[in-house]
Parts: sequence; C-alpha cells; structure tokens
Amino acid sequence: MNGIKIRGTGRGVPGKLVTNRDLEQVVDTSDEWIASRTGIRTRRFCGEGESVSTLAAAAARAALEDAGIGPEEIGACIVATLSADTLVPSAACLLQRELNLPQDIPCFDLNAACTGFLFGLHTMECLLNASPRKYGLVVGAENLSRLINWEDRGTCILFGDGAGAAVVECREGWPSISAIMGCHGSSGLLHVPGAETEGHSWISMEGTKVFKFAVEAVPWCVDQVLKKNGRAVEDVDFFVFHQANARIIDLAVRKYRIPPEKYYKNIAEYGNTSAASIPLVLSELREQGKIGPGSRLLAVGFGGGLTWGGCLIEFA
Ligand code: UT7
Repeated sequence: MNGIKIRGTGRGVPGKLVTNRDLEQVVDTSDEWIASRTGIRTRRFCGEGESVSTLAAAAARAALEDAGIGPEEIGACIVATLSADTLVPSAACLLQRELNLPQDIPCFDLNAACTGFLFGLHTMECLLNASPRKYGLVVGAENLSRLINWEDRGTCILFGDGAGAAVVECREGWPSISAIMGCHGSSGLLHVPGAETEGHSWISMEGTKVFKFAVEAVPWCVDQVLKKNGRAVEDVDFFVFHQANARIIDLAVRKYRIPPEKYYKNIAEYGNTSAASIPLVLSELREQGKIGPGSRLLAVGFGGGLTWGGCLIEFA
C-alpha cells in the first residue's frame, strides 16, 4: 500500500473566549482547581453564526491554501466529529458543497470521539490508494459547548470548540502511516446520547476511570507504533498527543524522556476539543515552524468509545 504524507494544515477557531474565572461564575469551581488538575486556562466556544460547519470550512480552506492545492484535486473528504450540526447531511457533505469539492468522491463523517482524526488519516490512506486523485482532506471539528451539562462541574470545565484540518497526499513508494487503532465498547465511561435520547444530549464521563484508561493507552500506542515501524523514540521528530489533560501528556513525556522541543501542549488555550485537538496541534506547530517538510511525527489519540490509535506520519 502506498503511504500518505501531510501537505498542508489549517484551523478554525471560534471567537468566544471563556476563561476559568468565567466558569467560577457558573459552577462551584476555581481557576486553581481546573489549571492544576487539567492544565486548562481558557477554551473557545462557538458564538452567533459559528458551528461545526463554519469551523470545518475555515480549517479546510486554510489547509488547502497551505498545501497549495485546489478543491478540484481532492479525492476524498472525511470530517471526524461527534458533534456535527446535523446527523444528515453529514458535516463532510456540507463541506463538499461549501468548498466546491468534486461530486464524484466519498465525503462522510467519522465518529471515533477523540481518536477520530487518526481513524480518519488511516481511512484516508486506504481511500486514496483506490482513487485517481491523490489528495485527501481530513478534518477534525467539534462544537462540544452544545453538549455540556452545566450542572456537572466534573465535565463542564473540560471541553472547547474548534477545528483543524490536514490535506494529505498519497504517492507510490511512500511508506504507510502504519496506524494502529482499536476500541472496546464501553457505554458508561464516556457517553453522549444520540437519537434514542428523550432528554438532553449531554456529555457524561467517569473522569478518573477514563484517566486511568488514558495513561495506559498512550504508552501502549507509542510502543506499538514504534514497534510496527521498527523505530525508536529518537527517530521521531515530534510527538503529538490528544489534548485531554496536561497530566496525561506529562506522564508520557516523562516515561519516554521526550525533550521539551519535541512535544507540544495547547490544552491551556483550547481545553479538550476531542477530534479537533490533534489537527489543532498540527496546525499550530506548522505555523510556528516547529514541523515542516521532512518532519516525522508520532501521533497518539484516545477517548470515548473507548477508542485509541496512533500512527507515524511525515510532512511532504
Ligand atoms: O478526551 C477524552 C478522554 N478524556 C480524558 O482523558 C479525561 C480523563 N480524566 C481527567 O482528565 C480527570 O479525571 C478529570 C480532570 C476529569 C478529573 O480529575 P480527577 O483528578 O480525576 O478528579 P475527580 O473527578 O476524582 O475529583 C476530585 C475532587 C472531587 O471532590 P471530593 O469528592 O474529593 O471532595 C470532585 O468533586 O474534585 C472535585 N471536583 C471539582 N472541584 C472543583 C470535580 N470537578 C471539580 C471542579 N472544580 N470543576
């Protein structure tokens, strides 16, 4: 199988800034508790006129521009999300229309919660191998503020809205991203009701149990990706972790002795943006010149489902 590489990245960031101090006015919490337990200081929420669709379009446009690729060259479009504006049409179908992507390509949403973007990269690699067009658009976009239970201080302080996108290219001879991924069905630990619900569609989570799962899943994924690729920690230029809790990232960094210049945290600004978190990191790293042509990244995601995944991906 021919592999994919990232050609360009972009992001869509909503306008409304919400600080921990703002949340102190809403629930019994404190800036000190939130910052020390999670690393979060602010998050962005969708305001008037903003939605998964508008954020996804902004991110995708920026990624296309960064890649220097026209919409007519895209061979498939995947939006990873658990909070699409409508179940049907999917966010990806709305993006097809908004960006004027070709009509003869697959455009669909993918829900693997916070691991969605990595599931999307793997799926895109498979799709592009069977497509005459060699570029694909993978977006992670969320409007989680819509799903917040403001009576649950254990979860309402965690989540934020946003979108990130990557244009990927598939070429003969390029190595596969060799993704590893999995899931085990668990409805209780992290739950968002769907069509069956009679009440509100709110996020509920048993945080401590999910935390325990995450601190085991992250090193497991790192080890599996390195093993599958015959690589060592030193062969990786940059580690990109899902931004769910700064403490989860810090534990992984300590375990693998990753130097500060080789990993990144933006959870302080965005909170947990689920499927958008990894592409948001990619887009900021790219803008800051920390990654670029030739960079080899190891990305790890984990979250609701429960799902987990990792891959080794290069910049074209
Ligand atoms: O992206 C998908 C994957 N998600 C994750 O990986 C999230 C993983 N989980 C976590 O990040 C953490 O479990 C949380 C940040 C959600 C919670 O941190 P924790 O250290 O597990 O706290 P806890 O739920 O065990 O609560 C500790 C205490 C409790 O008080 P008592 O019972 O000890 O008196 C809570 O009631 O902190 C209290 N608490 C709060 N206090 C102030 C819970 N939420 C808050 C709050 N402000 N917002």
